[in-house]
Amino acid sequence: MADAGAIKLSIEESDIAVLTLDDPRGSANVLSRSVLDELDQHFTTLEGRKDLAGLVIRSGKPGVFIVGADIREFLAGIDAPREQIVDMCNRGRKLFQRLSTMPFVTVTAIEGQCVGGGAEMALWCDRRVVSSDSKAMFGFPEVKLGLLPGWGGTVRAPRVIGLSNAVELVTSGESIDAKTANLMGLVSDLVPSAKLLAAAIQVVRAEQRGGQFKRDRGLWQQPLEIGDTELGFLGATASAMIQGQTGGQYPAPMAALELMLASAGLDADAAGLEEAKAMASLFGTPVNRALINVFFLTDRNKKDTGIDRKDVKPQPIRSVGVIGAGIMGQGISAANLKRTLPVVLADAVPDALSKGIQQILEEVSYDKEKQGPNAQKAVKFAALINPATVDAELAPCDLVIEAIVENPEVKKQLYARLEPRLSPQAILASNTSTIPITQLAAGLARPERFVGIHFFNPVRKMPLVEVIRGAKTSDETIATAVAYAKNIGKSPIVVNDGPGFLVNRLLLPYMNESLELISDGAEMKAIERSAKKFGMPMGPLTLYDVIGLDTAFYAGRVMWEAFPDRIAASPILPALVKAGRLGQKTGSGFFLYKDKSGRGTPDPAVVEMFKPYIRKQEKYTPEQITARLFLPMVLEATRILEAKVVRDPRDVDLGLIFGVGFPPFKGGLLFWADSLGAAKIVELLKPFENLGPRMHPTPLLLEMAKAGRRFYAG
Ligand code: NAI
Repeated sequence: MADAGAIKLSIEESDIAVLTLDDPRGSANVLSRSVLDELDQHFTTLEGRKDLAGLVIRSGKPGVFIVGADIREFLAGIDAPREQIVDMCNRGRKLFQRLSTMPFVTVTAIEGQCVGGGAEMALWCDRRVVSSDSKAMFGFPEVKLGLLPGWGGTVRAPRVIGLSNAVELVTSGESIDAKTANLMGLVSDLVPSAKLLAAAIQVVRAEQRGGQFKRDRGLWQQPLEIGDTELGFLGATASAMIQGQTGGQYPAPMAALELMLASAGLDADAAGLEEAKAMASLFGTPVNRALINVFFLTDRNKKDTGIDRKDVKPQPIRSVGVIGAGIMGQGISAANLKRTLPVVLADAVPDALSKGIQQILEEVSYDKEKQGPNAQKAVKFAALINPATVDAELAPCDLVIEAIVENPEVKKQLYARLEPRLSPQAILASNTSTIPITQLAAGLARPERFVGIHFFNPVRKMPLVEVIRGAKTSDETIATAVAYAKNIGKSPIVVNDGPGFLVNRLLLPYMNESLELISDGAEMKAIERSAKKFGMPMGPLTLYDVIGLDTAFYAGRVMWEAFPDRIAASPILPALVKAGRLGQKTGSGFFLYKDKSGRGTPDPAVVEMFKPYIRKQEKYTPEQITARLFLPMVLEATRILEAKVVRDPRDVDLGLIFGVGFPPFKGGLLFWADSLGAAKIVELLKPFENLGPRMHPTPLLLEMAKAGRRFYAG
């Protein structure tokens, strides 16, 4: 089908063809099959014309050029045979390659995002100009989907910007801004949007006069000019870097590197054929499937308003009060400041308040380049944060988020004092990690304006926010909390009330199991290693130290009060809390923290301290540890689905990936469970059934195993 009408052809100054991409089906241009067919037809028409001096390709959509290939089409073809994928790549590349052989100069005029297939198309042109006043971003995010650029990106980028720059761009998957692209030689001109077309036409004229584009065409068809020593050095440094970043769990960046190194000595056509083969080897692999799933989870989340009604709109949040200047209060305040939302911060302990403000300013004024605080930034942010010493100072805030100690009585006392001082429109929220919102709202005059807004630790790294609906929370409050969280750059999911909500309810069985494993004789480092090998960013014991042992203890108590049959109350946590070992914040917990790096070292004193709680001495394989840590999580997820805690099973997966760093290359907990199958999970649980109900298959799992059903059905 080539009748989508996504591309318009016009003629400027009588001899410049302009192709304007403006797909009426969406807010961004996507290189779907039909758009590629349209391009093909236009290229055929234009190639036959003798009267043209140049072709300019641009976007009709303000702020966005092309966001890449159509991932939905990728998904539809995920099971396609290898030859079909090779063929799809070869066809796409050969289409774009025609831009480098047309009988006139070809220029891409880039305004806004130009990534993936869009970046490849732009690279096949002779020249590129870019708008300086839009947020032009150029990049190859393919590795983030477990793939590599398959339409000539790995062929063309090394030729246009040099192998080293190309390796960095392709293997990192990160986009660069217009200025960096200009410095790299990727774009020739950086001009205001209004002058973009004129600049592109000027480039055509200059190239026609000078003829440099013809010499480049010849050169860029050849193998790269790079010596073996340089190639060896680049390979060694880049592979070490990739290994460090991926932990060997994401194959695409390394595959892209190996491809580019191996193809350096080939001409562009031969390199293109190799690229297609390399792309086909990655396409449809488990990691590719998992990462495509994460892409769709994220995409769905971006569009979700948190409520199903269309008639309710979020109210604006212009200022935020934060109560509690501890770990979480600091992180939440910093997230607001970074989006220039003014914050009023309060704490019952004056020292905690001043220390909190200092830490917040340190975080927000951190300068990556200087690797330290930036005084100018600190001054700017200091004006946005005000300490509150009396409740009245919180009165004008549109939203007040409480992040004090995890104790329902203390929290309720605070609300009783504060609520009458707030405006009737204001929203009061708790960052509680486990206490039911309905329980906290019990004594409030306006429970409909009370909601859980639960951030994750560390806030600067974890994109997830759980918006928790209490029994009386209104749709407007939910919609406002969701819009607010998005506004400060977070990914909110709405969950129904209940102990531990979603993520902590899933996390607690996993973390608790690590304590049981210690008591069953497993070594702490073996537990940590197994979880990390599974793909978790840190082991469960380190996670305890990051969260804070006291907070984790309170959270655990809420959980074992709610689910006494399956959460065992381990004596290990209270022992650490009693010893004042509260985790990173006190310099010791399960591990010792000697400096600010956050890296823990083993402490023999802890091993000694745990001795009375060790029930048996046994050796465990990493597989046994992994099964004990992660299968209870899957079981809990089945209970969560039955209890309708989430509106969609995909929220379980998004929540864990964005909230605790569950490995994206596994696609999410339920996606991973589906890759095993319910019957296999029932089987894997068998050896652990003697540990008690926490390891027994749930009715839902058994039913799924029997029916061969998956979590991602339909
Ligand atoms: P924290 O112990 O680091 O900080 C709590 C702060 O609240 C302290 O500075 C304390 O002086 C202050 N405070 C205590 N009672 C107060 C009162 N009545 N009025 C004013 N200030 C008071 O605790 P953290 O870790 O920041 O936790 C705070 C809340 O966030 C808890 O509800 C916790 O469950 C929740 N949370 C904690 C996470 C974590 O990983 N630590 C993650 C997500 C939520």
